Amino acid sequence: MRIVMIGTGYVGLVSGACFSDFGHEVVCVDKDAGKIDRLLKGEMPIYEPGLDTLVARNVEAGRLSFTLSLEEAMPGADAVFIAVGTPSRRGDGHADLSYVYAAAEEVAKLIGDYVVVVTKSTVPVGTGAEVEKIIREARPDLVPGDNFSVASNPEFLREGAAISDFKRPDRVVVGAEDEKARDVMRELYRPLFINETPILFTGRTTSELTKYAANAFLATKITFINEIADICEKVGADVQQVAKGIGLDGRIGKKFLHAGPGYGGSCFPKDTLALARTAQSVGAPTRIVEAVVEINDARKRSMAARIADAAGGSLKGKTVAVLGLTFKPNTDDMRDSPALDIVPALQKMGATVKAHDPEGMHEAKKHLPDLTYCSGPYEALEGADAAVLVTEWDAYRALDMDRVSKLMASPVLVDLRNVYTPQIMREAGFTYRSIGRS
Ligand code: UDX
Repeated sequence: MRIVMIGTGYVGLVSGACFSDFGHEVVCVDKDAGKIDRLLKGEMPIYEPGLDTLVARNVEAGRLSFTLSLEEAMPGADAVFIAVGTPSRRGDGHADLSYVYAAAEEVAKLIGDYVVVVTKSTVPVGTGAEVEKIIREARPDLVPGDNFSVASNPEFLREGAAISDFKRPDRVVVGAEDEKARDVMRELYRPLFINETPILFTGRTTSELTKYAANAFLATKITFINEIADICEKVGADVQQVAKGIGLDGRIGKKFLHAGPGYGGSCFPKDTLALARTAQSVGAPTRIVEAVVEINDARKRSMAARIADAAGGSLKGKTVAVLGLTFKPNTDDMRDSPALDIVPALQKMGATVKAHDPEGMHEAKKHLPDLTYCSGPYEALEGADAAVLVTEWDAYRALDMDRVSKLMASPVLVDLRNVYTPQIMREAGFTYRSIGRS
């Protein structure tokens, strides 16, 4: 099969590379000449474990290529995926679809033989229908279902684990309105049949909503356990044990019950807000998702006070070491990371901040220019009056606490990811605070 992937961002690049690894011929298109240039040289625009070797392998095999020209890429394509960005629109929180619609218009002009136009970006309910309308208006000569189809195929990739998520997904969801489109999509995902991956065919609107519902549900699960953690702290219970105790119930499930500083990333904050806005605009407001958005924002903002409290109340003139800046490990993505709330709040309280992150410092510098970036965790901890573990990178999971305690001006650790054990830390002489455990 021949695939065109429009957009070499996170979703487009990972999906394109994985499809080519399945044996399909994939051409990735982007308007950003710098990005295409780097990709042609084998440089990855994002950090994702395994992506560079996957890309190199398939480029070498001649199955994966990169170009600025959609015109060159389109002829002979069985499917064109639109995987461009859908950022939150400034002001109202709705998803900004201008890039998706612009891509649809360009595709329309170039349609020759039958092709399935697939929305891969997370797009609000109704976008597929709008894309179809754009194509029909641009090309009145084309008949939907005959000359082209528009399908929805949301991605459920987690950053840091995107390649295995693509190759061994729990399910694939495809929203299509005709059998011709379903046939093409079935063929594209045939390599997954060997793992018995369920492919769920639905209508387009249902598929679009499924993506938002999945992300909103997961965000709700995290927010729920975060609130339970707050209760645990008040009553002296242990949130990790509560999570285990409820998670072993198959109806609840163990995953996404790690209490922490609040979720971040490129999807949950944006998608929960967009779903809340869509729900309001169709007259079926979701109070649960609205509450989740509000609680999570407030939680991220409240973390700095927790650090000040552990450090004795005031941070004026103190140095705080921040370990981890990205929204989660194994990515360099800073989007909506809790660190973006925590660091400025610490600085506002009068603290000097030293930080380390294994992969995210380059990206972090764009958002947080006024702090000292260190080459390793121990350098960040040296002379600090308090330390906060924001992201649970492997590099922070087995710190030599004797060394840490000697390096720090005072051994105060606020562990927002519950990486360490309270009792052991106290025995090591630390003032230790974590989430939902005492
Ligand atoms: C998420 C979805 O998992 C994925 O299916 C979707 O396609 C895109 O959004 P991602 O944002 O890469 O993926 O990361 P994920 O691992 O889901 O974590 C999101 C945020 O939730 C992170 O800030 C993480 O720290 C937080 N989180 C996750 C928790 O606080 N507790 C948990 O138990 C799980």
